[in-house]
Amino acid sequence: MDWREVYNQKVVTAEEAVKHIASGNRVVVGHACGEPSYLLDVMVANKEQYENVEIVHMVAMGKAEYCLPENRKHFRHNAIFVGGTTRKAVEEGRADFTPVYFHEVPKLFKTTLPVDVALIQVSPMDEHGYCSFGVSSDYTKPAAEEAKMVIAQVNKEMPHTMGDNFIHISDIDFVVEHDAPLIELPNPKIGDIEREIGRHCASLINDGDTLQLGIGAIPDAVLSFLGDKKDLGIHSEMFSDGVLGLVDKGVINNKKKTFKKGKFIVTFLMGTKKLYDFVHDNPAVELYPVNFVNDPKVIMQNDNLVSINSCVQVDLMGQVASESIGIKQISGVGGQVDFVRGANMGNNGRAIMAMPSTVKGKVSKIVPLLDEGAATTTGRCDVDYVVTEYGVAQLKGHTLRERARALIKIAHPDFREELAKVFEERFHEKF
Ligand code: COA
Repeated sequence: MDWREVYNQKVVTAEEAVKHIASGNRVVVGHACGEPSYLLDVMVANKEQYENVEIVHMVAMGKAEYCLPENRKHFRHNAIFVGGTTRKAVEEGRADFTPVYFHEVPKLFKTTLPVDVALIQVSPMDEHGYCSFGVSSDYTKPAAEEAKMVIAQVNKEMPHTMGDNFIHISDIDFVVEHDAPLIELPNPKIGDIEREIGRHCASLINDGDTLQLGIGAIPDAVLSFLGDKKDLGIHSEMFSDGVLGLVDKGVINNKKKTFKKGKFIVTFLMGTKKLYDFVHDNPAVELYPVNFVNDPKVIMQNDNLVSINSCVQVDLMGQVASESIGIKQISGVGGQVDFVRGANMGNNGRAIMAMPSTVKGKVSKIVPLLDEGAATTTGRCDVDYVVTEYGVAQLKGHTLRERARALIKIAHPDFREELAKVFEERFHEKF
């Protein structure tokens, strides 16, 4: 079969492609830095063609103009994660939020969220007719598999990555060729507090461990303390530029992994062009859909897995709120619980919840009780280590009394007295 001929027959302009979206359709948009920004721009520019199109998107790194008040009649956003560009719309009731563990998102496409249209971005086609999903396999590939219609932006800048991360041209309905740099996530600034948190987390990491790291300054701070470790591996929802220095030094080499030895296993990637060049055609980096990478039953096959995630509040029982401040949804569960559970289930796993002890020095993140209305993201039976710039509290296997003591010791000194009073009332014992 001449796949090039098949491909050529599917090439249309973006304006032509988005005409095939109908009012009332559910459109699932490619995730994070894999977002097909050009298709979204053209869809929003042609908004008068539709009413009430549901936009399902997770980490929206682009403009998320479908959320703007003036586009309310045309689009309704169903967020499976809330971020900077979508928070206001959810808060003001113009968008909805669906709580879901990241690894279960693909299941929703088979149940409550059947997909009419998948808007995706892929690498150019190879001679066998396959395009790579590049930096974003996650729910993007499963959405494309379930969709009644697939519109793909084919972008020469999208890296060609390995794993179970390809779509065949016969499964794409419309091809829109548009080359543009991918969305980048700039390297975070690491301050003194993050550095201290990183130092404490690094004290829990041993040679030969496999790491899961979230996004931001804390994971990068942790990595900066791992320069003298040996044979670390990665099985993570994602990784960013922060790991590259340790790869160059030979510290991260995946040699001691007990699952997919020798490979970085991830479901998406976020970083700069440097990261995207590193993963391009790199046989050591494999991307798989999130229902594989984040499935706790898969994660647990990694012995010595250390997961590092962040949160908004921890109460004295060890209940962790990571996605809402009271009733206000500011984020989502993402892969946090997937990895906490996977680490807990595996041999010698450690799940770390790392956070600054305060919000800008004003509010303690260690609190007597979670704010009213806050969702408990990681439950008290799942929680293991909590780390702040003041140290490490190990909670799993400890009583409520022991947990409270350990947490107060790593709270900011300005709030310890207040918390100690709560301790004394609750446990009838001097702190
Ligand atoms: N009380 C009041 N406000 C709080 C707060 C608290 N206890 N904790 C955080 N906030 C505010 C911050 O001030 C900030 O507000 P601003 O944007 O107006 O400055 C906002 O909430 C976000 O907090 P910040 O600490 O800047 O967020 P972050 O970028 O460090 O991310 C989480 C922290 C918890 C939101 C993020 O780690 C997350 O989404 N976790 C859940 C998902 C996850 O773990 N995924 C797994 C791996 S990717």
